Amino acid sequence: MLSRIVLLVSLTLGVDAVALLPRLNDGVATTPPMGYNHYSCSPNETTIRSNAKALVDLGLDALGYRYVGIDCGWTVADRLSNGSLTWNETLFPSGFPAVGQYIHDLGLLFGVYEDAGIKTCDTGIDQVGSLFHEEQDAATFMSWNIDALKYDNCYSEEPTGYPNTDYAPSTSPRARYANMTKALAAQDKKVLFQICEWGVDFPALWAPSLAHTWRIGNDIIPAWRAIFRTLNQAVPQTSFAGPGQWPDLDMMEVGNDVLTVPEEQTHFSLWAILKSPLVIGGALKDEWTAISEASLAILSNKDVIVFNQDSLGQSASLRRRWSDQGYEVWSGPLSGGRTVAAVINWADEARELTLSLPDIGLQSAGIVRDIWNNKTSSNVKTSYTGSVEPHGVLLLELQDTVSAGTYASKVFATINGDQTTFHSIYANTTSANYTLTVEFEEPAASKTTLILKSPSQEVKIPVSPSAKSVSATIFLAAGSSNELTIDSSNPLKSLHVTAPSGEYYPCTSFTLGGSSKLEKCDADFCAPVGSKIGYIAAESAIQATISATVDDESQNSTASKYLEVDYINNDIALATSWGWGSSSRNLTISVNGGKSVRLEVPLTGQHSELFGPGKGWWDSSKLGILVDGWKDGSNEVVIGNDVAGDVSQTYGPDFVGLRFYD
Ligand SMILES: *[C@@H]1O[C@H](CO)[C@@H](O)[C@H](O)[C@H]1NC(C)=O
Ligand SMILES: *[C@@H]1O[C@H](CO)[C@@H](O)[C@H](O)[C@H]1NC(C)=O
Ligand SMILES: *[C@@H]1O[C@H](CO)[C@@H](O)[C@H](O)[C@H]1NC(C)=O
Ligand SMILES: *[C@@H]1O[C@H](CO)[C@@H](O)[C@H](O)[C@H]1NC(C)=O
Ligand SMILES: *[C@@H]1O[C@H](CO)[C@@H](O)[C@H](O)[C@H]1NC(C)=O
Ligand SMILES: *[C@@H]1O[C@H](CO)[C@@H](O)[C@H](O)[C@H]1NC(C)=O
Ligand SMILES: *[C@@H]1O[C@H](CO)[C@@H](O)[C@H](O)[C@H]1NC(C)=O
Ligand SMILES: *[C@@H]1O[C@H](CO)[C@@H](O)[C@H](O)[C@H]1NC(C)=O
Ligand SMILES: *[C@@H]1O[C@H](CO)[C@@H](O)[C@H](O)[C@H]1NC(C)=O
Repeated sequence: MLSRIVLLVSLTLGVDAVALLPRLNDGVATTPPMGYNHYSCSPNETTIRSNAKALVDLGLDALGYRYVGIDCGWTVADRLSNGSLTWNETLFPSGFPAVGQYIHDLGLLFGVYEDAGIKTCDTGIDQVGSLFHEEQDAATFMSWNIDALKYDNCYSEEPTGYPNTDYAPSTSPRARYANMTKALAAQDKKVLFQICEWGVDFPALWAPSLAHTWRIGNDIIPAWRAIFRTLNQAVPQTSFAGPGQWPDLDMMEVGNDVLTVPEEQTHFSLWAILKSPLVIGGALKDEWTAISEASLAILSNKDVIVFNQDSLGQSASLRRRWSDQGYEVWSGPLSGGRTVAAVINWADEARELTLSLPDIGLQSAGIVRDIWNNKTSSNVKTSYTGSVEPHGVLLLELQDTVSAGTYASKVFATINGDQTTFHSIYANTTSANYTLTVEFEEPAASKTTLILKSPSQEVKIPVSPSAKSVSATIFLAAGSSNELTIDSSNPLKSLHVTAPSGEYYPCTSFTLGGSSKLEKCDADFCAPVGSKIGYIAAESAIQATISATVDDESQNSTASKYLEVDYINNDIALATSWGWGSSSRNLTISVNGGKSVRLEVPLTGQHSELFGPGKGWWDSSKLGILVDGWKDGSNEVVIGNDVAGDVSQTYGPDFVGLRFYD
């Protein structure tokens, strides 16, 4: 049970004062809330009671799933004659206080749903909302002894006559939510307050001052494609997660028999490491249905729950996406210096996928735990490969890690007399401009020469007496399997490899084609350039000449080079989320007329799409991509949207610029 603690917030706080609070920070939801919510707007007492009991019987309560939420559909069209809200007596014959008591007696927490409009969202029958009745309704909820309130947004736009849904209201929902925050704060018990306004007006910027969780987007739908759409929406919000403030990816479809087992694993894993509330949206057990053993095992996976409930409370973020190959990497920090990583297999085939540790900022890990493959590996160097089912995920916990670029000889080298051979040296671009620093166990005793060999080079490096380390510029090919052999009479401690710093090509150095258009952004936006090119399409590509170096004789005539693209996409799938809206856009890059490489970018907007600067179309983000076909000298680079197939977006993301790692 929650203890009854009187809020220290003054009861006379006005809306403005509430809005000024840095964040709610009231000790509720220091880790993401977990629970059950009856999926779809058709709850009744029988299903709520049996599923609440099932949380206990199946041991899910002991794993942390404690909030039992009664979703839309519980109330009636009219208030009582004294103005209070009431439940539908046909659906809840014993009444909400008794249902709440039953839930509490099971050691669980009681959550209700209401709406910041004049009616709740559609259930077929009109049901009254809380708008302009916040204080009375908060008092009523408290008289029922609730622990959580999910607060929806239908029929809420006064100036336009309270339409059903309004994804583009003329005023922000914020003030309406602030009124309920204030009403709840006036009660003598703290409750979990969950904002559900579908991500309208970029709530990540204001919701943490009013509530403990906020929905990042429109409702999840019972289809696999909802996972990609939701993750694309989550990308610009991951940095807003923290104790007491959680981006809500919506309840989970795990257990609803609409996803395969690997799909459910991916769904659950990503919701967990993005620190979403973990709310079971499938029926657990009642007269009509029971959750499958496989789905129950997924929801009960302790390792995954522990990632979600980690005390650090930091979300994983998207690190790299290979759109043509259909996989991507997410990672984030955990307490105790650990790291969690997920490699999602979007492809329809089972295959082996490899995590290159440098893609998540690491070079090696003492221990890698492969959660779904139930396997632990030690001394993992540079990369980890595991098998993944179609639409499955490689979910990894990495411990005792070393930062990218550091290669201890004890871990990475085989030693043969004076020859030390380092294996598994990583490079994200093919370049003759890597800086290598060789560190000795002991300072050199006298003047010596160190000879560094790889299939494509031999470098002699003079070492002066008492030097602790020496540096040289070397060649590495993009990938994880470079080897370097070093002849040195003085034993080597480690190598440090630093990548070239690259050269920036702003959008202003590109030639426009077709309908593409260069636009200036306000100061401090469209970083790092201050302008962007929009309306890039298949026939409206842009191009630039980029000079590259492919100069080592032993190299091939073309090379793979790494680019980091700064782009902007705020094409949010709100109305289209029920269909094929994906919150993504495709950008393609081709070099010297070769086959283009596709990067399907997620959202970038970190400001309101309605009222924020540039409507969120000035907030840039970056992703890296490896592109083949670079030759020595001038290269013609074309950026467009020339993807084939069922393209839902004509235009690619806006382009700000790119960093080219030569
Ligand atoms: C309760 O809900 C279930 C599942 O929707 C339904 O099958 C059942 O008929 C409902 N019971 C009552 C009493 O309304
Ligand atoms: C209560 O719910 C039932 C089942 O959905 C519905 O038929 C009935 O009209 C509702 N009662 C009221 C007063 O809304
Ligand atoms: C309104 O009436 C209901 C039913 O009698 C009662 O439970 C509730 O406490 C009343 N509300 C107020 C504000 O008096
Ligand atoms: C918030 O509540 C106040 C009354 O306390 C009311 O005047 C105001 O209109 C409400 N704001 C919104 C946006 O509902
Ligand atoms: C994981 O593997 C261990 C043995 O290595 C085994 O005891 C355990 O049952 C396995 N767990 C699952 C969930 O398969
Ligand atoms: C690739 O190398 C560049 C240059 O050091 C670095 O900034 C970037 O983080 C690297 N990217 C990845 C994904 O490893
Ligand atoms: C090599 O890297 C250095 C520093 O990282 C940089 O100043 C220089 O321009 C680079 N040269 C080439 C050819 O990329
Ligand atoms: C050159 O091409 C061959 C064959 O495609 C390949 O095995 C080799 O790794 C390439 N070398 C470099 C330095 O890219
Ligand atoms: C991106 O390209 C892929 C492959 O052609 C396509 O399936 C997808 O629908 C495209 N996405 C958008 C947003 O156009």
